[in-house]
Amino acid sequence: MSVYVHETKGTDSTGFGTEEKPFASAAYALFTQPESKILVFKVQEDSEGYVEISASALKKAKKGAEGLKKKQEKAAKLQEQKESSTTKKLEDLEIIEIKEDLSLPKAEKIKLRNLGDFIDSRVSVQGWIHRLRIQKGLAFITLRDGTGYIQCVLTGDLAKVSTTKELTLESTVVIKGVIKKLPEGKSAPGGVELKADYYEVVGLAPSGDDAFTNKVQESADPSLLLDQRHLTLRGETLSNVMKVRASLLNAFRKFFNEEGLTEVTPPCMVQNQVEGGSTLFKMGYYGEEAYLTQSSQLYLETCLPALGDVFCVQESFRAEKSHTRRHLSEYTHVEAELAFITFEDLLGQLERLITKSVNYVLEDPIAGPLVKQLNPDFKPPKMPFLRMEYIHALDWLNEHGIPNEDGEKFKFGDDIAEAAERKMTDTINQPILLTRFPAEIKSFYMQRCKDDPRVTESVDVLMPNVGEITGGSMRIYDYKELMDALEREGLDKESYYWFTDQRKYGTCPHGGYGLGTERILAWLCDRFTVRDCSLYPRFTGRCKP
Ligand code: 4AD
Repeated sequence: MSVYVHETKGTDSTGFGTEEKPFASAAYALFTQPESKILVFKVQEDSEGYVEISASALKKAKKGAEGLKKKQEKAAKLQEQKESSTTKKLEDLEIIEIKEDLSLPKAEKIKLRNLGDFIDSRVSVQGWIHRLRIQKGLAFITLRDGTGYIQCVLTGDLAKVSTTKELTLESTVVIKGVIKKLPEGKSAPGGVELKADYYEVVGLAPSGDDAFTNKVQESADPSLLLDQRHLTLRGETLSNVMKVRASLLNAFRKFFNEEGLTEVTPPCMVQNQVEGGSTLFKMGYYGEEAYLTQSSQLYLETCLPALGDVFCVQESFRAEKSHTRRHLSEYTHVEAELAFITFEDLLGQLERLITKSVNYVLEDPIAGPLVKQLNPDFKPPKMPFLRMEYIHALDWLNEHGIPNEDGEKFKFGDDIAEAAERKMTDTINQPILLTRFPAEIKSFYMQRCKDDPRVTESVDVLMPNVGEITGGSMRIYDYKELMDALEREGLDKESYYWFTDQRKYGTCPHGGYGLGTERILAWLCDRFTVRDCSLYPRFTGRCKP
């Protein structure tokens, strides 16, 4: 094959190297068709036409062709670089919007507690961002909806979209995707993760100074944390305690139902004291003096003839001067009252209440594992509880060198104050039914023991780590005796007419008890203070938020 070159009429850019459309340079001809014979147009003295290229011209053309080759290679490289930088730019380009792929199966809206029923299904979960980790091309969101947690994995555009980069802890999102069992060796709550295919932000929580982590720092002063209680409640420990609390209240109700007690709701605003004037919260009531109730006991007693055995779960209020880790100004008081019983019957029900209710909590699929998490060493109490009379407790304390409040040996009539009581309970390290307290250190309504009128048919249940969680007694059921007791206490007998009438219109031996929900929780969940067991604790100097 020949390739034609015509220096004046040919062209490199649009020529074909043919006789009709020759190239302009031999270099170009050689560059494009290296195997062909190069014919160059020559004008000689007597003729003109194409002749084979001379050796010297070919040498020159070869050099030119090499130059052209290098030029082409350079251009190609440049082009390649240009192309790769455009794709990179495209990749870096912010993905501004994500769209749900409507061809995917419909996502069922679920609560996280039901995760296990939806493995390999496409679901929609909604909640708060509990934990967040964003890395190149991937985002991990641990979502919390109050019923559980799930790790959601965002990949591809979902991870790259600018909204994902701006996500903050505690923002609310709706995430759709498929729940997948985790492969061996990987761990996440529930052993599953959600492979997200779409999500939406419902409410973006603040970043910067106002960010959740700046508001709620674990190491912060307890008082500052209490100011932010509405936020600290979202933490795992507090919310777990609140879940155990809910389960415990359910367990009490279940127990009372099994034992045939009827639930009632006595008033909180009252005009009679139950447990002494020093802890009364007074309030104005349309021009009259009223109080926040210290105990619903007196009202429960009035219900016996109408409803039989009764119980209530009601707030009680104590203006406690003591600023201790087991005193609140408002607490949830679980109280029961039983008709026609003996003191022994009362102790029996108390033991059953505590052991059975605790077992119900431990059997609860939600609360049981939480108790294990909060209190790994917890051992459920067994019946019968150790029974100890007050007078023998004094001996025990004296033998163990634990002094009374004046730093002296305990003597009959001394109150066993919190510190001594706790030392004894912690040392014995099992539930104790402490009975038969002297009348003068107990409430006016308590029935005296027949065999020793100095002491009463009274009981405190003591638990290791907390001390007293329950107080109960048999009640004076003789009308005259009760009126005398009110008189001795300096109380206005007339104003108790509705209570004393219970003895007048068909009296009966009866008794009951009151249990501090936060105290039993402190024991069950191993919390240092009852404040950690109340939703919004109230104590001296704290009535907010
Ligand atoms: O021993 P208390 O004062 O007994 C009564 O109020 C009786 N009227 C109850 C009854 O027989 N129906 O209180 C009973 C329980 C205590 O054992 C304790 O667990 C809890 O209520 N309690 C408190 N809890 C937290 N903060 C306080 N300030 C409490 N005062 C009592």
